[in-house]
Formats: sequence, structure tokens, C-alpha cells
Amino acid sequence: MKEEGKKELIKAALTARERAYIPYSGYAVGAAVLTESGRIYTGCNVENASYGATNCAERTAIFKAVSEGERKCMAIAIAGGKKGKAPADYAHPCGICRQVMREFGGEDLRILVARSEDDYREYTLKELLPYGFGGENLL
Ligand code: THU
Repeated sequence: MKEEGKKELIKAALTARERAYIPYSGYAVGAAVLTESGRIYTGCNVENASYGATNCAERTAIFKAVSEGERKCMAIAIAGGKKGKAPADYAHPCGICRQVMREFGGEDLRILVARSEDDYREYTLKELLPYGFGGENLL
């Protein structure tokens, strides 16, 4: 993936972050997924008064893509931090989101965890979820 493409994906995640619905934690996360078709889908975290019903930004973005007919994600950018401020740290994805990435990305999925367009860390899913469980285990 070219540097320009990475910056575009991070920019989309930062914009989505502004739409986070976070009345309980005040922690705003944005995500942007690049799919096999070349389209970008964005998502933010959506909280709930019943805390367990909260959806993370990464899953919002991936589920939006899948519900539009996409099945394979090539890359995902994530940015998170306290509301109203630039991300102070790298917001690595939670375990449930890593498992959802495993379903729709595969081990070659690129994960960009960004503080800004110019300051990010890049991983493969295999690095963040080694020995993962997938559909092939059920055959
Ligand atoms: N959150 C995400 O959106 N993604 C993650 O990978 C970790 C956590 C959200 C959920 C909740 O709204 C807030 O961050 C605090 O946990």
C-alpha cells in the first residue's frame, strides 16, 4: 500500500472519530476500512447506557462494509483518544475487533494505528492476533 493511500485512510478515520457517540466514556474512536473493491467505509464507536451494547469503531466500519456486500478488507486505520483532543496515544484494537478482522480480512490485513496522518504504527493481523480462530477450524 502506498504512503498516499495510508494517509487517505487515516484521514478518513480521524474524520469518522469526530462523529463518535460517547456520552459515557468520553473516549472517541474512528476507523476506516479499505476493501478489496477499493472503497473506503468509515465507522465510530457507538455507546449505550447498557454499556455492553456498545459497538467499537472498527466493528462499525467493518459491518458497514459487509452489509454493503463487501467480504474482504485489505487495510484498516484506527484513531482514538479523549474527546476534543488529538489522539495522545496509539489506540490498538480490542480483542473482539481483532477477531472480527480475522473473519473479514485474513492474516495479510494491514492495521494502521494512528495518532495523526504522519504518526502511525503499522501491523499485520497475524502480528496482533497470532494463532487466531477462523472458519477453516470448523471444517
Ligand atoms: N473502543 C473502540 O471503539 N475500539 C476499540 O478497539 C477499543 C474501545 C471504544 C469502546 C468504548 O466506546 C470506548 O472505546 C471505551 O472503551
